Formats: sequence, structure tokens, C-alpha cells
Amino acid sequence: MENKSLIAEIENKYESLGENPETYFKGLFHSKPLSYWDYIEVETLNSLQKPRTTFKDEEIFIMYHQVTELYFKMIIHELKQLIYEDLPEKTIINKVNRLIKYTEALINSFDIMKYGMDYDDYNLFRSSLTPASGFQSAQFRIIELYCTRIENLLSDKTKSPSGESMEELFDQLYWKQAGLKKGSQEKSQTLLLFEEKYQDELISLAEKVQGMTLEEKLIRLSNPSEELIRALQHFDFLYNFKWPNVHLETAEHYLNSRGENQAATGGSEWKKYLNPRTQQRRFFPSLWLEQSIEDWQKE
Ligand code: HEM
Repeated sequence: MENKSLIAEIENKYESLGENPETYFKGLFHSKPLSYWDYIEVETLNSLQKPRTTFKDEEIFIMYHQVTELYFKMIIHELKQLIYEDLPEKTIINKVNRLIKYTEALINSFDIMKYGMDYDDYNLFRSSLTPASGFQSAQFRIIELYCTRIENLLSDKTKSPSGESMEELFDQLYWKQAGLKKGSQEKSQTLLLFEEKYQDELISLAEKVQGMTLEEKLIRLSNPSEELIRALQHFDFLYNFKWPNVHLETAEHYLNSRGENQAATGGSEWKKYLNPRTQQRRFFPSLWLEQSIEDWQKE
């Protein structure tokens, strides 16, 4: 577009909004040049690490969690488009491939947690974090709700819900089990605080996306391509097996590598709960034929 017609287009834009274009041109004339630090908010980002102890590695722990939450946000950003927009299959595949890239980045960087902190320091500073736990990551739960039907997230995977309200179903979610005190039905502080802050928001999201989750979108496609099916399977495998597995290995490293079998800050029966072989979470169960489920378990 030539300069003159560009200016005319901009004038048209503001005139059609009932605005005076001259005022906008004046604003542009006086505005400061954009800087990297303002645009990326580097200073804000760097002000967000607030360790609770004097152990140096606590800051690594905080930053790596923050990096993960940003990746979760990227995943959610793609999922919202996948769910709410009517996209052609090629774009759907591109977006699922992005989900794969983000998840791979998280899997490949998890060693920063496993080897990037001093074992003894971690085991000292973590006690000051109780009852906080990654278990309370709302974005982790939001990703699940966008990806799959609520019945795939129940602790009893064979159950097909009928006539139960979303509140009732929420009590049966697989992760609620991890929030009960050992050997009792009493909820832990970790779970109670999480529910107080996020339960209502999560229930409304679950209600809103009913019938529209990524899994249901896939089911509705009359003839999904092999490429899309493979991409979704791969994402499912990475998100629900590989990531939980590197996370479990890290928990093993800090909590059990010296045979000390320590309790986690969230107080769950973590060895069983975090293990993808026992947890067997799946976003797209219809894509996993009997054979591949067995392979998944052997992995
Ligand atoms: C030294 C590093 C870590 C250890 C030892 C660890 C340990 C644990 C344990 C034991 C649990 C079970 C709940 C509990 O009892 O607290 C848990 C849950 C969880 N953690 Fe971590 N974690 C670590 C790092 C991370 C990081 C970096 C993230 C990224 C956000 C994260 C996200 C989660 C999530 C999402 C859950 C819930 C998992 C689920 O419901 O399947 N964790 N973690």
C-alpha cells in the first residue's frame, strides 16, 4: 500500500468510528518509541520471584514453576482456538503440533528441577512451602477440561455419568483422591484451599465446554486424517505419560532416592498418584486401541 492510500485508509478507519483522525495522528506523532523492556515487561517478570527462605536454589524452583505456567498458558491459548473456532483440518493439525512442541519443551527441560537444585537445600526449603503444591496448578486442570470429557477425568474410568450435576462429578475427579488425608475421607488443606479459590471457576468452565472439548471435536470430524490422529495421540502420550513420568522421577529423586520415603508438601500418596502407569489418564481414549494401551503401560 502506498503511503498516501495508507493514510487515507487510517483516516477512513477513524471516521467510520465517528472519531477525529487528526487527534490519533497527533498522538502517534508524540508517542515514545517502543522498547523491548516495556513490551516484554522484563522488569515485571523479574520482580515476580519472592523466595520464602535464604536458600539460593529456591529461586530456581520458583522460576521453573513460572516458566511451566507460561507454557501451560501457551497450551491454553491454542486450545481455546481449537475449541471455540471453526478451523480447517490443516490449521487444527498445526495447532496440535504446537501443543506437542510446548509439551516437549517441558519434558526436555525438567532436568532443571531434577539436577538443578541442591538436594539438601531443597529438602529444607520445601518444608516452608507446605501446604502449597503443584497439585494446586489451576492451569493444569483447565488444560484437562479443554482437552477431554469429564468422564475421562473421573477416578473410576469405567463410570459413565448419568444425570449427575457437575458439582457431583467434580467430587469424583481423579485428582480429588490425592487431596484426601491418608487413610481417611477428610480433605487436606492443599485441596480445601484450592477448592475455595478455583472450584466455582472450574465448574463453570467444565459446564461451558461440555460437548465442545477437543476430544468431542475429534469425534465429530467425519473422517479425520491419519496425520491428525497421530498428532493427537502423540500429544496425549507426551502430556499424560512422558511429562508425568519425568515429574515422578524428580519426586523420586528428592523424596525417595535415599530410601527415606518422605511425605510431599501436598501430602498425597504421591508414588501411586503421580505414576502414569497407575493413573492412566488419557484425553483421547478412543484413539488408543488395546494394543497401544498395553505398549503405553510397558514403557
Ligand atoms: C522438585 C520438584 C518437584 C517435586 C518434588 C514435585 C512433587 C510433587 C508431588 C509429590 C505431587 C503430588 C501432590 C503432593 O502431594 O504435593 C505433585 C503434584 C503436581 N506437581 Fe509437582 N513436583 C515438582 C515440580 C513441579 C513443577 C516444576 C511443576 C510445574 C508446574 C509441578 C506441577 C505439579 C502438578 C501439575 C501436580 C499435580 C499432578 C496431577 O494431578 O497429576 N511440579 N508434585
